[in-house]
Amino acid sequence: MKILILGSGGREYSIARAIKNEQEEHELFFQPGNGATHQLGTNLNIKDYHDLAAFAEENAIELTIVGPEAPLVDGVVDIFKAKGLTIFGPSKEAAQLEGSKVYMKNFLAKYNIPTARYIETASIEDAFKFTDTLQAPIVVKADGLCGGKGVIIAQSHDEAKIAISEMLSGKSFGDAGLKVIVEEFLDGYELSMFAVCDGEDYILLPAAQDHKRLLNNDEGPNTGGMGAYAPTPLVDETLYQKVRERIIRPTLDGMQKEGAPFEGVLFIGIMVVNGEPITLEFNVRFGDPECEILMPLMTSSVSDMFFKAATNRLAQIKVEFSSQHAVGVVMASENYPYSSSTPAEIILDDVKHDDIKNNTHISFAGVSMEDDILYANGGRVLVCVGLGDTIKQARDRAYLRCGQVHFAGKKLRTDIAYQAL
Ligand code: AMP
Ligand code: GLY
Repeated sequence: MKILILGSGGREYSIARAIKNEQEEHELFFQPGNGATHQLGTNLNIKDYHDLAAFAEENAIELTIVGPEAPLVDGVVDIFKAKGLTIFGPSKEAAQLEGSKVYMKNFLAKYNIPTARYIETASIEDAFKFTDTLQAPIVVKADGLCGGKGVIIAQSHDEAKIAISEMLSGKSFGDAGLKVIVEEFLDGYELSMFAVCDGEDYILLPAAQDHKRLLNNDEGPNTGGMGAYAPTPLVDETLYQKVRERIIRPTLDGMQKEGAPFEGVLFIGIMVVNGEPITLEFNVRFGDPECEILMPLMTSSVSDMFFKAATNRLAQIKVEFSSQHAVGVVMASENYPYSSSTPAEIILDDVKHDDIKNNTHISFAGVSMEDDILYANGGRVLVCVGLGDTIKQARDRAYLRCGQVHFAGKKLRTDIAYQAL
C-alpha cells in the first residue's frame, strides 16, 4: 500500500517501522516526518491540509494515518474524507473528546461514564464555590489544548484559587483557559489504555503505563512521557472487562448518538481507585511513548488494522499480540521540557551483542540529519525499546541499548517500569 503518516515524533516513527516490518511491501510518506523517517519513506513539506489531500489524491495514497492531535482537532480527517480518501483518525467533531476538556467531561457525565466529580465554568465565583466543597489536593484544568501543561494539581485551596484566577483571566493559558474545570483529586495508579475504533467496533490493546514526570521516583515537572511499558501486570481480566463495559462501549455508543461516531485511537487515561477504573481524560490518538512499545508487540498486520478501522471493517479481522513485554526509555535533550537545546551530534555504537541486536531497537523522534550526521534536535530525541519474556528482561535490554547511544546533554530516567518490578 501507499501510506501517508502525519506527524514527526517517535510515535509516527514506530508506526512506520512496524508497517515496514510487514511481509507485504509498502511505500511510506511522512508529513513532515523527522531526520530519521526518510530512511523508511519520503518526508514531505506540505503544511496546508487541502494541499496535502490533493497530494494524496494525485499520488494514489491508499491510507493516511494521523499521529498527533492538532491536525485532528483542526479537521484534517474531514478534509480528506470530503475527497473520498481513506484516513484513520476521528472527525473534527469527535476529536473534541481531546480538544475540549469541557466537551469530554460533559460527554462523560451525559453517558454516565465514571469520572472525577467536577464543575466546568467560566465564572470565577462558581469555580471558587465548588473548590470550597473539595478537599485538597484540587485539580484545575484549562479547557483547550495546552500541550499537556494545562493541568494544575493544587496542594491547597488558595493555590487552586490562584490557578483558577490566572486561567480565567487568560493570563496562564490564553484562550485555552477561558473556561476551566475544577475537579476532585483521584488517588490511585494511572494506566494508559488504547482502543482502535471504527465507529462501532474496537480492538483493545494491552494496557500500558507511562512515566509523565521528568525525574526518577516521579519527581520534577510533567513531560509528554519519559518512558512506558506494556502489558502491565497491574491490569487483570476483570479490570479490562470493567473498562470495556463501563468506558469504551458507552463511549462508542454515545458518540454515535451524538452524531459523531468515533473512528481512530481512543486513548483512555485511567486512574484505578480501589480497583475501579475512573476516566481521567480522553485523547484521540496514540500516546507517545506508549505507541513505541505497543507497535512492536503486534504480531498481526498493523497497516491492515488501521486500514480496516478506517473503512469500518474492524469486525472482520483478528488482531494478535506477542506474549512478550516491551519497555521504552525516552532519551531527551538537555533542556527538556523547559526550553530548546542546541543540536548535538548523536553517536550510535554498533550493536554487536546478538541478544541486544535482536531484542532492542530505537524509535527516533526529535532528530535532524545533515550530511549524514544525526543530531538531537531538542525535546524528546528518541526511545530505546527493549523486548523480553518478562518486564525485567525487556527493561534490562532497553537500558543496555541506551548505553550505546551518546549525545551531549542526554537525559533519561533510570527507573522506567518500576511499578511492575
Ligand atoms: P490530563 O491532561 O487530564 O490527563 O492530566 C494530566 C495528568 O494530571 C494526569 O495524567 C494525571 O497524572 C493528573 N491528573 C489529572 N486529573 C487528575 C485527577 N482528577 N486526580 C489526580 N490526578 C489527576
Ligand atoms: N504519553 C502520554 C501522551 O502521549 O499524552
